[in-house]
Amino acid sequence: MLSQGIIQAAYVIAALLFIFSLQGLSKQETAKSGNIYGIIGMVIALIATVSSITGGFHWIVIAMILGAAIGLYLAKKVEMTQMPELVALLHSFVGMAAVLVGFNSYLDPHIALFTGGELTVHLVEIFIGVFIGAVTFSGSVVAFGKLNGRISSKALMLPNKHYLNLAAIIVSIILMIGFVHLEAGFVAFMCLLIMTLIAFAFGVHLVASIGGADMPVVISMLNSYSGWAAAAAGFMLSNDLLIVTGALVGSSGAILSYIMCKAMNRSFISVIAGGFGNDASAASSSDEDMGEYREMQPVDVAQVLKEARSVIIVPGYGMAVAQAQGAVSNITEKLRNMGIEVRFGIHPVAGRLPGHMNVLLAEAKVPYDIVLEMDEINEDFPETDVVWVIGANDTVNPAAEEDPNSPIAGMPVLEVWKAKTVIISKRSMNTGYAGVQNPLFFKENSYMLFGDAKASVEKVLQDI
Ligand code: TAP
Repeated sequence: MLSQGIIQAAYVIAALLFIFSLQGLSKQETAKSGNIYGIIGMVIALIATVSSITGGFHWIVIAMILGAAIGLYLAKKVEMTQMPELVALLHSFVGMAAVLVGFNSYLDPHIALFTGGELTVHLVEIFIGVFIGAVTFSGSVVAFGKLNGRISSKALMLPNKHYLNLAAIIVSIILMIGFVHLEAGFVAFMCLLIMTLIAFAFGVHLVASIGGADMPVVISMLNSYSGWAAAAAGFMLSNDLLIVTGALVGSSGAILSYIMCKAMNRSFISVIAGGFGNDASAASSSDEDMGEYREMQPVDVAQVLKEARSVIIVPGYGMAVAQAQGAVSNITEKLRNMGIEVRFGIHPVAGRLPGHMNVLLAEAKVPYDIVLEMDEINEDFPETDVVWVIGANDTVNPAAEEDPNSPIAGMPVLEVWKAKTVIISKRSMNTGYAGVQNPLFFKENSYMLFGDAKASVEKVLQDI
């Protein structure tokens, strides 16, 4: 067993490494070193924590071996496109851990050591920790289901949904007052248990009420909640490192949610309050008859591209699913060698996780300097000869600007329709993640190139 001083010193070092890690992860170029700092910090934290315990060592070792084996297996198996689901699932574990730590702290006989004000503070810590943990757990499970398609991505619209949320919070506060003031025993325990059930339902409702297009914000929001749940567990266990780490995750998740909301022109408060203000968007344009669409064959696309002077490629989730980034990189190189200007336009929520497209393109060795963010490239579409949309849909939907009743109304989009010719690669006329039809496909300058993105791009490359 290490001395308390050494353990505290190790915790400070680990906390610093976590801060360096976050700093590193904020830029693509330094992300790898950021990851390494995080790993070293976690190893130090684990060694220090495990060496501070007095009994039950073998249980911890067994749990760690099992956990590490499952983690390694999942990390190897999971596809990049399934990352958000995995992250949502991991958040649910943090939430459940906080719930279990809360119940354990309450039932632990050592609670008798607390008296007076200290006891009150400890009980409040337990109650709030369990509440945040339960909301994080059930919310993350619903997010997991929505992301992998087992639960509909449509927003759940219960009547009086905001009053339901409010009622859940008010009843939980009343239960907390009872929990803190009652003598320890059956009734107090029931207050904790009933609140836990309410919090589970609250978490389900909170995330189910948020529509598909707002899911990016939900993921970062649950990330933030999981951080606060970990911090709450840290308070219950009097573990400083867990408090610091939880606060780092909680606040960075909150900042990320805020940035995502700004990028999508959504109100932060409305999204974290479970889709507040969504009600007006019930009418979507998906059922309207939008007219005829035109189709192009790969050989024609090759011709159009060869004749262009400037091309912007707009990738989306479909490129990731089809793993078409390598083919896209090859065609980019080919066109650039022919003297054609090729650039990429990346929407902040293209794909299924922040930075998804940037990572895929970097992996496929597309030069950084031709990969531009939405704000950097949006004004250039009118002067562009050809835009090639590869597996993107919601992020290029003009309804966001033109139809105030659309569920994605107000979300900034890449204004690809302003280019001279737009080619859209996808497999069918199906909608994107938000579940709304896209008027872009029916515009006069738009042409559909049907088929799997990778096969289509490779075919066009051959024809060039
Ligand atoms: P989406 O709107 O989801 O559209 C992707 C399109 O790709 C689909 O319409 C699909 O059409 C096509 N596709 C799927 N597999 C394909 C394949 N193998 N080959 C060719 N095409 C394929 O994607 P987006 O434009 O990237 O927008 C992202 C959406 O996801 C937004 O609504 C966003 O809010 C949401 N979201 C984002 C995140 C983050 S953090 N980025 C997280 C969760 C949700 P077909 O079926 O016809 O092929």
